[in-house]
Amino acid sequence: MANTRIAVIGAGLMGHGIAQVFALAGHDVTIYDQAASSLDTAKARILTNLKDLGEDEGAAQRVTPVADLARAVRDADYVIEAVLEDLPLKQKLFSEIEKCVRPDTILASNTSVIPITSIMEGLKYRERALGTHWWNPPYLVPLVEVIETKWTSPQVVDFTIKLHADAGKQPAHVKKDVPGFIGNRLQHALWREAIALVENGICDAETVDKVIKSAFGRRLAVLGPLENADMVGTDLTLAIHKTVLPDIDNRPGPSPYLEKLVREKKLGFKTGEGFRKWSPEQQAALRSDVLQHLKNARAHDA
Ligand SMILES: NC(=O)c1ccc[n+]([C@@H]2O[C@H](COP(=O)([O-])OP(=O)(O)OC[C@H]3O[C@@H](n4cnc5c(N)ncnc54)[C@H](O)[C@@H]3O)[C@@H](O)[C@H]2O)c1
Repeated sequence: MANTRIAVIGAGLMGHGIAQVFALAGHDVTIYDQAASSLDTAKARILTNLKDLGEDEGAAQRVTPVADLARAVRDADYVIEAVLEDLPLKQKLFSEIEKCVRPDTILASNTSVIPITSIMEGLKYRERALGTHWWNPPYLVPLVEVIETKWTSPQVVDFTIKLHADAGKQPAHVKKDVPGFIGNRLQHALWREAIALVENGICDAETVDKVIKSAFGRRLAVLGPLENADMVGTDLTLAIHKTVLPDIDNRPGPSPYLEKLVREKKLGFKTGEGFRKWSPEQQAALRSDVLQHLKNARAHDA
């Protein structure tokens, strides 16, 4: 795809990685953050990632940090927002951005779960707005969910899907704007039952993760649940559901067990204890395992 002028708003964990992917695909990228600590280090972080991955380090030169929002988006064909997960903040930003860009500049949000409709409803030209949900780290996880609202034009959806596919991503079209889109709905359906198993004393947290990692988690990267259902037979799947579904957690709100952990400041890695206790060494080892696994998967794909 020809050079698309991209503006990335938010230079945190996701924003700098998204800028990196587009720059590596040959696009000119401006990046803006209100915090100098994020903006000033964005290029260096991108360069470190490119070096680590053995990618073209010259791509970092296509990324221009800009300390003024209006200047960052002024010439953009495509704006992607990756600031904090806060609805009023995102709404306010898009209303400011809309004043500075052309009516046909595409506006995308990288929100994890907030409906795109709520973020974009105040815009004057809503047909150019949509969601693009990347996964962390953006340069290692292939999926980008492309979420349309009832206002998004088909041309904007098609262009966005092509933009991401040409940049080496695997876009998935989400045709209705539901909270959590596809990936986080599936992920949190699993997490709800994982927490319920611990809450109900069926096993401890370590065992839940062990069962997933050493059984169906092993197959998940090559065998999705619906492929799996077809493989074993929809009739068997139905029989299993008749027995198991009535017993699976279906409470509409968050688990009281999870709420209690948060009340007790058992927040996971950041306080050293969540569902389990975590020493700094254990945290570092797990982070490193995940990164290495994602790198291996990427090398395997290439
Ligand atoms: N971390 C993940 O795994 C992940 C995955 C997918 C999507 N997301 C979503 O991406 C978005 C960003 O997440 P993150 O993990 O990169 O967060 P982060 O905290 O690493 O980065 C957010 C950045 O936004 C900046 N910011 C805050 N207010 C701003 C403003 N008014 N203008 C400009 N910049 C501002 C902050 O200074 C910070 O650098 C969130 O909506 C999040 O839900 C995160």
